[in-house]
Amino acid sequence: MKKILKYGIVALGALAGCSQDAANAARQVETAKGKVAVIYYSWSPEGNTRFAAETIAKKAGADIFALQPVTPYSSDFETCCKEAKPECRGKLARPVKPVEGLDLAKYDVVFFGTPNWWGTLAPPLRTFITENLAALKGKSVALFQTHGGGGMQSLGKDFADLFGDTATVLPPKALGGSSIRSSTKALEEFVTSRISLK
Ligand SMILES: Cc1cc2nc3c(=O)[nH]c(=O)nc-3n(C[C@H](O)[C@H](O)[C@H](O)COP(=O)(O)O)c2cc1C
Repeated sequence: MKKILKYGIVALGALAGCSQDAANAARQVETAKGKVAVIYYSWSPEGNTRFAAETIAKKAGADIFALQPVTPYSSDFETCCKEAKPECRGKLARPVKPVEGLDLAKYDVVFFGTPNWWGTLAPPLRTFITENLAALKGKSVALFQTHGGGGMQSLGKDFADLFGDTATVLPPKALGGSSIRSSTKALEEFVTSRISLK
């Protein structure tokens, strides 16, 4: 409960996320195995977003890449929240290490994963996208996020805003972090509703 109050979560945010998903559920692009990548950031020891990323990658036959900040956040929850808050609110950068083996030119579709931090994208993902906008131009991109009860909050909009009209932004997906390990079906449906593999 303490965590829930801490994030300033409103039920309306979660509801908005659900209806947004439902309204956009039909939007899908055609692609091929080998043309899909999953790029994600995950912070907690539980690895909720990592689990989602691995499940999505398996279903999509995708290559998978984890982002790591050059300067890691504290492993202590309260301290990490304090470190992340001004970065999230100010949309500040948190530089990430070069991603070994990643060549964005190989992919048509990129799924991006992040925990919901302070109602928006975790800064390492925001930073990676911002720094690679030119390489992502013309691709189809889709956001998935895991959260602690807040639902979509601003993540779908903030993600789409990063790309403007430079990429095809597919509908985002929000998943509860605490139940992610029993959400395999929802994760697989997310993949099959966003891409059709030739
Ligand atoms: C710094 C920080 C800020 C968070 N802010 C929110 C939030 O605003 N809304 C929410 O629902 N959950 C919030 N959470 C909870 C995480 O989004 C959730 O636990 C997520 O599933 C963790 O993913 P991970 O295991 O991949 O790190 C926050 C967690 C941290 C560490």
